[in-house]
Amino acid sequence: MKHPMAAAAREGLHVNKIRADFPILARTVHGKTLAYLDNAATSQKPSSVISAIETFYTTMNSNIHRGVHSLSEEATGAYEKSRDLVRRFIGAESTREIIFVRGTTEAINLVASSFVQPSVKAGDEILITGLEHHSNIVPWQLVCGRTGAVLRVVPITDEGEVLLEEFASRLTPKTKFVAVAHVSNALGTVNPIQAMVTLARERGIPVLVDGAQAVPHLPVNVRELGADFYAFSGHKMYGPTGVGVLYGREELLSTMTPYQGGGDMIKSVSFEKTVYNDLPHRFEAGTPNIGGVIGLGEAIRYLSSLDWRAVEEHEADLVAYCTTMLSAMPGVRIIGTAREKAGVVSFVVEGIHPHDIGTILDQEGIAVRTGHHCAQPVMERFGIPATVRASFAVYNTREEVDRLGKGLRKVKEVFG
Ligand code: ALA
Repeated sequence: MKHPMAAAAREGLHVNKIRADFPILARTVHGKTLAYLDNAATSQKPSSVISAIETFYTTMNSNIHRGVHSLSEEATGAYEKSRDLVRRFIGAESTREIIFVRGTTEAINLVASSFVQPSVKAGDEILITGLEHHSNIVPWQLVCGRTGAVLRVVPITDEGEVLLEEFASRLTPKTKFVAVAHVSNALGTVNPIQAMVTLARERGIPVLVDGAQAVPHLPVNVRELGADFYAFSGHKMYGPTGVGVLYGREELLSTMTPYQGGGDMIKSVSFEKTVYNDLPHRFEAGTPNIGGVIGLGEAIRYLSSLDWRAVEEHEADLVAYCTTMLSAMPGVRIIGTAREKAGVVSFVVEGIHPHDIGTILDQEGIAVRTGHHCAQPVMERFGIPATVRASFAVYNTREEVDRLGKGLRKVKEVFG
């Protein structure tokens, strides 16, 4: 897939220059330079994003869509500019299809409440995969609990892949909705998302794609993909926390009832009748995270300035380099060996609990996530309670992977 905003020329990636854009990377932890390998949990922010947020609060802080005064007009302009940046970034047709939400979790809950719940009945099926994050499981369980619909799960292989034939065989006349991760947060598996969307849409089944772990790493073009909904978070793509995006096809969004009621989502209110606002405002009740949306716009500017093919190559190199290193270490087992992975290497070390590993690595200035990664069914599938997860971003280096290796050797020494 070609990125909708891909730079025409190939410029390569200047990782040292990129690192200098992220002030936090210069700090030390326990006296060691930070090696931040927890990007799937949240990425770090470049100075341009930090200063866009600061500029908002220092020069134009005010509410949007409400005031005639200059500050409000400026803030509204900047907020709506971000919406257009998002639209272009994911190749959506119209800004009416871009809803600002708190994050991927809220986006999925919005679709569950406003689209799926009203359209399913007892016995209908909602299909997900065994790779999903809790936020793409629990909202569907809630819908099933309220409607009598049934949650069905496509199993994953020992490699952590979803096989297309397994997926296709579970698309039946009872399937009324499909919700699937583009990239697994726990294992890094990249799903064959284009084929999955096509299979579902050919059968007239609407699809939501959880793109939280994809958007920072892979080009996403929602028009090419053809998904009905695509959800992602700002904070995993170098933007701030507390802001994310739900893309929805206008044809569907325009039929949906609001998720929340409040200010800004209405045209008129009386005690007898409320007329809802147009898209996308109908789904943005209350004062939104204005500074966050502006910061997200800046993160998109930042990401768009990079050579995307070089980003993909660099991150694939880090995953491959880390995988090779870990595979050579006695007692280390990589969890998730899918053919296509993005940004993540999850592993366990025989006889040592992931939390202990994470704690010792922290002493070395290395930040990794340990635990079930909000994907307990994935852990259950592999018969483990937790993994250590190294997850990469554009600013990471092979040298940091080497430090991870050195840190792990220390862990093994400590545990004898
Ligand atoms: N979903 C985030 C992760 O995978 C928090 O760490």
